[in-house]
Amino acid sequence: MVNIAVLGYGTVGSGVVEVLNVNGDSISKRCGHEINVKYVLDLRDFPGDPIQDKIVHDYATIMNDPDVKIIVEVMGGVEPAYTFVKEAITKGKSVCTSNKELVAKHGAELLELSKQKRVNFLFEASVGGGIPIIRPLNQSLTADEIEEITGILNGTTNYILTKMSGEGSDFDTVLKEAQQMGYAERNPAADIEGFDACRKIAILSSLAFGMQVDFEDIYTEGITKITDMDIKYAKAMGASIKLLGTSKKEQDHVYAMVAPMLIKPTHPLFSVNDVFNGIFVRGNVIGDVMFYGSGAGKLPTASAVVADVVDAAKHIGTNIMTLWSSKKLKLSDMKHSKHKYFVRLAGNTDEIKEQAALLFGQVEEVKVSDIPDEYAFITLLMSEETYQDKAAKLGNIVSMIRVMF
Ligand code: HSE
Repeated sequence: MVNIAVLGYGTVGSGVVEVLNVNGDSISKRCGHEINVKYVLDLRDFPGDPIQDKIVHDYATIMNDPDVKIIVEVMGGVEPAYTFVKEAITKGKSVCTSNKELVAKHGAELLELSKQKRVNFLFEASVGGGIPIIRPLNQSLTADEIEEITGILNGTTNYILTKMSGEGSDFDTVLKEAQQMGYAERNPAADIEGFDACRKIAILSSLAFGMQVDFEDIYTEGITKITDMDIKYAKAMGASIKLLGTSKKEQDHVYAMVAPMLIKPTHPLFSVNDVFNGIFVRGNVIGDVMFYGSGAGKLPTASAVVADVVDAAKHIGTNIMTLWSSKKLKLSDMKHSKHKYFVRLAGNTDEIKEQAALLFGQVEEVKVSDIPDEYAFITLLMSEETYQDKAAKLGNIVSMIRVMF
């Protein structure tokens, strides 16, 4: 039997206990050990719930129990998670976490410490909810040099954009639904401002390139400025708007960004809707690979956490090598990255069209019949720097969305 402790009995923590209860027998067979939840750490009590017998309020109880071999950290946030996890690893306990903030900030250090202590720090659930992506990057795609990772990495925003687009729903109403379904972060600004996707692409990039990609260096835009008018234009183009996290290696440079982008049905992420996430990976020998599944929610996320617990239990006394050095990877300046841009200008006079043509040269006009006082177009491919220089000369930009077609 392998004893574990779960830190945090919220959405994911209660999911972990549920998965272990529901699938305990098959999990034990696959693992070769029975997994026993010995403690659950939470500030709250749960009177009437059978979990109450396992609730402890003092982390020291868990730390000082040598029978606890694996810690499941599902509290979220950097502190006190970082202090607890570091102490656990130092004391020779493996840690499985869904905490992307912790992993993005301290992943390299905690992996190095785990190596020294011959335990494991596993974080499959930190990116893509239930989708296997960390383990594939670390174990299945090791023959490749990764050239690109582009993903829909946040379930909440994908859910919002899908409902706004398909049902014409209002942003705030759909956000509330996403919160009720346990998709959104405690502070949903992390979802809608793109910060959650930013941490996730930072983690994937660090693993793909083997060095520390600081999330603070990644240009990040969320979906708060996307309106139903933008969605109308997207439909008129046969496109959809997705919040993408992307990281690309070009020669020796790596670019990374998070932003809403327009994509067409030919793009592999076009049909990834609702709370689903999709992660597209390009390797130099394998070519293109896609990972798809539930990107958020109690049980999908818990499934990934429990799979890590099984892996940790199978590897007691052995560290699973993960390449993620603390050496910083300096990302290339965003101003050199190239896109096409969908631009909406207020006004629909010949003068405005001429102004756009003079500044941007050849453009592709986009028309939506019931949006009268605007002129909208897609530019040719150009660098961010060139676009920003030109855009600064216009005082009437209603919105701009980058285009991936
Ligand atoms: N709030 C996150 C999301 C949870 O919506 O994707 C999963 O990391």
